[in-house]
Amino acid sequence: MILLSGVVVLGALSTMRVQSAAWPRFLTTGLHRNLALLTLVFLALHIVTAVVDPFTHLGWLTAVLPFSSYYRTLWLGLGTIAFELLAAIIVTSLLRGMIGQTAWRIVHWLTYASWPIAIIHGFGTGTDALSAWFMVLSIICVGGVAIAVVIRVMQPPPDPLASARSEFRSAVSRKTNP
Ligand code: HEM
Repeated sequence: MILLSGVVVLGALSTMRVQSAAWPRFLTTGLHRNLALLTLVFLALHIVTAVVDPFTHLGWLTAVLPFSSYYRTLWLGLGTIAFELLAAIIVTSLLRGMIGQTAWRIVHWLTYASWPIAIIHGFGTGTDALSAWFMVLSIICVGGVAIAVVIRVMQPPPDPLASARSEFRSAVSRKTNP
């Protein structure tokens, strides 16, 4: 949950083109991508340990077919949907060059659905959901993502011609002041 929230925050920061002298933009995008892959590794561990746990006997179908579990059907179904949305986002990101920017962007917007569904799943089914430490972590994760999304929504869309315009201006200035 912490990793996934970090990925969403870094994703919002990278679309806002946040950067400074000490923090170049590629650090945000690189961290966003690598944290997303790390999230998938931990998610795989979470799902495998949940499925092989002899206490519940979930079965592998639970991990791929939403609401197929006899145990906590709704909460686990939401976990499966969150996982599948996330898998779609990561696969399309790895194939971005092949599927094109528009298709990639449309699928990437699913993150905004995947993250709250995963949070609800954790709250609904987690045995730690009511413990103080889990509450504190959840408040930090939800607060962090909420702030990042609000700032992102309030940000004006980036001007696609800005970099072309600045290149044109420097070319003109090189010509006039050789
Ligand atoms: C993006 C996808 C997912 C995320 C972020 C996620 C996250 C979480 C979190 C934060 C908890 C609470 C842990 C606790 O209270 O200690 C939890 C519980 C649980 N999750 Fe997931 N989960 C995801 C997908 C899945 C899937 C696909 C399954 C099905 C195999 C699953 C099975 C479970 C089970 C069985 C529990 C309850 C564990 C317990 O009894 O404490 N999760 N999950």
